[in-house]
Amino acid sequence: MLSSLTRLCRDVQGGVADGKQLAAALALGCDGVNIGTGFMATKEAPIHENIKAALVGADERDTTHVMRSVKNTERVFKNETSLKVTEIEAEHPGDFSAFGQYMKGANYQKSFQETGDTESSVWSCGLSIGLIDEIKSCKDFMEDIVAEAESIINSRLPTMIANL
Ligand SMILES: Cc1cc2nc3c(=O)[nH]c(=O)nc-3n(C[C@H](O)[C@H](O)[C@H](O)COP(=O)(O)O)c2cc1C
Repeated sequence: MLSSLTRLCRDVQGGVADGKQLAAALALGCDGVNIGTGFMATKEAPIHENIKAALVGADERDTTHVMRSVKNTERVFKNETSLKVTEIEAEHPGDFSAFGQYMKGANYQKSFQETGDTESSVWSCGLSIGLIDEIKSCKDFMEDIVAEAESIINSRLPTMIANL
C-alpha cells in the first residue's frame, strides 16, 4: 500500500522485506518503506524463538484477516485461533463480544514472551512473511536490503530508459 503520510513524506507499508521492494518503492517516488514483520525475524527482536521459526517456515499464504466486520482489520498469522475468529466473525459479524476473548493482547504477549506457542493466540504479521528465509541481525537485514536495492537501482533501472 502506498501511503501519503504528508505531502512531503510517502512510504510503502506492508510486504517489504528485501531490496526489490525498496527499489520499487523508491522508483514509485516514495521516501522509504515501513517494515514490521521483517524486524520480528531478527536476532535482536525480543520475542520467542518459536515465533521467529514460524516466520521463517511460513509463506505468503500463511496470513489471514480478522476484525474486518468491526472495521478494525488486522492481518495476522493463519493458525487455529485466527481461523476460529474468522469462523465466529462470519457467524456474528460486527459482534466483537463473540470473538473478543481470542483477541486479547495478553494471549499474544504470552505466546511472544513466554510459551512460544504459535497457535494459541492471534498475532500480527504481514505478507512479507513469504520473503523471510533466515534470522539475521538487524544490521545484516538492513544492509542486505540496501545493497540489493542499490544494485537494482544502479544496474537495472537506468537500462529501462530509451535514449532515442
Ligand atoms: C508485531 C506487529 C504489530 C503490529 N501492530 C499494529 C498496530 O497496532 N496497528 C497497526 O495499524 N498496524 C500494526 N501492525 C501492522 C504494521 O503496521 C505493518 O506490519 C506494516 O505496515 C509493515 O508491514 P510488514 O509487516 O509486511 O512489514 C503490526 C505489525 C506487526 C508485525
